Amino acid sequence: MSFPVITIDGPSGSGKGTISQLVAQKLGYHFLDSGALYRVTGVAAKFHGVAMDDEPALAQIAANLDVRFETGADAGVKIILEGADVTREVRSEEGGMNASRVGALPTVRQALLARQRAFAVQPGLVADGRDMGTVVFPDAPVKVFLTASARERAQRRYKQLLEKGESVSFDDILADIEARDERDSSRAAAPLKPAQDALLLDSTGMSIDDVFNAVMRAFEDRV
Ligand code: C5P
Repeated sequence: MSFPVITIDGPSGSGKGTISQLVAQKLGYHFLDSGALYRVTGVAAKFHGVAMDDEPALAQIAANLDVRFETGADAGVKIILEGADVTREVRSEEGGMNASRVGALPTVRQALLARQRAFAVQPGLVADGRDMGTVVFPDAPVKVFLTASARERAQRRYKQLLEKGESVSFDDILADIEARDERDSSRAAAPLKPAQDALLLDSTGMSIDDVFNAVMRAFEDRV
């Protein structure tokens, strides 16, 4: 039986997480935050004292992740790794950087493939990531590639972190975003790039509502 998968790929801070969740909510679909799986792999590696370049050990960790995503009453998803709440570590800047390092390793990506595909169940799925439209769900009927300038993405991230009470420097955030873009786009395994049949959407200067409406129009056109 087939059912719709909507893939939303793009660089960090492009707003794809927010948009994917809004679209999933609107359609009553499941939601896959694939970045969280790479982030959790990095956190689990740190837990177990595995170096971020020890590919065989990292692939083992990725294949055997004991992780749960719990949606609480107060919104926000709690991430439970081996029984412990690791939401904070997973969402931190370090969590993002380590995710980008482990995500560059082909056997880690391979180990996470089946787990990601298992999210595609009735009535449908919105999948957020870097290679959802190119590798994980190449047959998805709706593919979006969402981007924004590095400066605007850094600005959004900076605001988010300040709101969370973290003390951060804008220049550090911008440098992190640029380093992560470079690593994600230049790696050999599943580099960040739009699928040939993706709708390209540059959200610089667009409101969340505008982007949401553009994605919903693409869905209505293609499904
Ligand atoms: O989307 P998020 O910022 O949580 O992703 C963290 C990192 O995980 C990305 O910078 C990227 O290197 C990696 N990632 C990936 N493939 C995905 C999702 C995330 O390589 N599908």
